[in-house]
Amino acid sequence: MTARVGFVGLGLMGSRMAANLLKKGHPLTVWNRNPERARPLVAEGAVLGGTPREVAERSDVVVCCVSDPNAVGRVVFAEDGIRPAAREGFRYVECSTISPGLARRTAEVLRAGGADALEAPVTGSKVGAEKGTLIFMTGGRRATHDELEPLLLEMGSRAIYCGETGAASTVKLIGNSIITFMLQGLCEGFVAARKAGIAPETLLEVVMASGYASPYFPFKGGAIQRRDWDTHFSIDLMHKDQTLMLEEASRLQVPMPGLAALREVFQAARAQGWGGEDIAAVYKVIEQQAGLKP
Ligand SMILES: NC(=O)c1ccc[n+]([C@@H]2O[C@H](COP(=O)([O-])OP(=O)(O)OC[C@H]3O[C@@H](n4cnc5c(N)ncnc54)[C@H](OP(=O)(O)O)[C@@H]3O)[C@@H](O)[C@H]2O)c1
Repeated sequence: MTARVGFVGLGLMGSRMAANLLKKGHPLTVWNRNPERARPLVAEGAVLGGTPREVAERSDVVVCCVSDPNAVGRVVFAEDGIRPAAREGFRYVECSTISPGLARRTAEVLRAGGADALEAPVTGSKVGAEKGTLIFMTGGRRATHDELEPLLLEMGSRAIYCGETGAASTVKLIGNSIITFMLQGLCEGFVAARKAGIAPETLLEVVMASGYASPYFPFKGGAIQRRDWDTHFSIDLMHKDQTLMLEEASRLQVPMPGLAALREVFQAARAQGWGGEDIAAVYKVIEQQAGLKP
């Protein structure tokens, strides 16, 4: 039987993920804080729910992809949220990047209502969301991962089980910390190369021929060369993830001096008013600090 699916949070990622579920033939009910953003999906046949609770009541499984812990608080714990609709057999999939602690609290309250929750943060950016090639990291009961994996694979190409609830959020935050370092390295390298009179293409050619090659470098390097700051993943959301990682590191008593320093570069970008731009735009901070004009 085709599951009745609900989707909450139709931003850059959610709108594309929900569109893929609709294409696969699921009866789909959607909700977004600003209902205007639901219009294209409704035009394709989705039903607009009045509240997250109504979405949950009309669905067997609800997928959520909102910006941050505050937004998840509103979606799950509010009076008209998902929580009061929890019932035997109901499933909730949390794709937002949040703290491991909030993922655990969410699973606890939904399980108390007879339902179950799977945390399933994603990687692959808006291109992966559109093409249906996202990688999911999952945390929760193994049986719930197995049950929901076919649904996840309608929006992505792989779902990797990480462990109990909280494990997937932790892996996701570590992943974004690694990307922070890669991006900073690329930006610093581009600025140094420019001052030394070396073409960025030459630098990228050597990087991609070397042992430290990654598809991430031509992806973000190309955007920087074009000065294309169109948002795939915003500076504000990356700063949110860096902060969540540092909070979790503090709980685990893990010093992360590198990440703590690099978060300030993102903070500087936000202070310039670039928080809504793509993370590649942190290049402008390094450029400015090196005394270069755009
Ligand atoms: N973009 C990426 O490449 C990427 C990759 C992996 C993971 N993620 C994660 O996926 C999540 C969504 O990212 P995105 O890029 O799609 O973000 P986005 O485009 O900024 O969309 C954010 C969504 O959250 C909603 N929202 C924000 N505050 C809310 C609140 N208080 N109550 C209810 N809804 C609220 C927004 O609603 P409105 O439309 O009403 O503002 C919108 O639907 C984030 O946790 C992000 O870290 C993103």
